[in-house]
Amino acid sequence: MTSRATAPSRGPGARVRSATIADARAIAEIRVASWRATYRGIVPTSILEGMDVDRDEVRFRGRLANPGLMAFVAEDVTGSVIGFVMAGAARDDDAAGLGEVYAIYLAPGARGRGVGRALMDAALEALEASGFSTAILWVLTANEPARRFYERAGFQLDGTARDLDFDGTPVEEIRYRRADSGRARTIVA
Ligand SMILES: CC(C)(COP(=O)(O)OP(=O)(O)OC[C@H]1O[C@@H](n2cnc3c(N)ncnc32)[C@H](O)[C@@H]1OP(=O)(O)O)[C@@H](O)C(=O)NCCC(=O)NCCS
Repeated sequence: MTSRATAPSRGPGARVRSATIADARAIAEIRVASWRATYRGIVPTSILEGMDVDRDEVRFRGRLANPGLMAFVAEDVTGSVIGFVMAGAARDDDAAGLGEVYAIYLAPGARGRGVGRALMDAALEALEASGFSTAILWVLTANEPARRFYERAGFQLDGTARDLDFDGTPVEEIRYRRADSGRARTIVA
């Protein structure tokens, strides 16, 4: 929960803490930058170019006010937000009672040094603390690096796929599932 007191934890060079509404701007900036850096060639360019930080900030202010949302940010040593994760109850009809990692994004320059793992640990621990011992997530099928990251964190494909509609262009995403999310720090080989 955004209002839940959470002991800050440190990943490599980063501190993870609960997100507040005041983080909405930084989260929006990271999401837009990360989409543009990650999804070029996967999501239509018109969609990426049409993204708008101001609009996203308003949306995230609303989402962060939802007490059911579990949201965390990672800060670097200067206190700048360099990544975020959001989680909560699964939204799919066939996943009632499960948890879901809705989104995890880092600033493009912050990847590959354990920050994502620290954020994922925080999300999985929060889900577990709220009674969600199994978590799902959706990822674009073509986003191979993220898929490797999720697999490293213990998620496995559950055989479900669907198309997202980006202004008439279908882009496939697939669902992963991870049981026993309370063992978030047990990253499987
Ligand atoms: C996906 C993302 C959150 C991962 O965070 P990260 O900080 O780069 O990953 P970490 O450094 O914490 O890696 C954790 C583990 O996953 C592994 N891993 C991460 N990316 C990997 C890859 N592309 N291939 C293989 N392993 C990978 C790491 O090697 C590490 O393994 P270890 O247990 O041996 O140390 C981050 O790279 C990101 O924001 N990517 C762009 C946005 C995105 O795709 N988000 C997901 C949308 S669904």
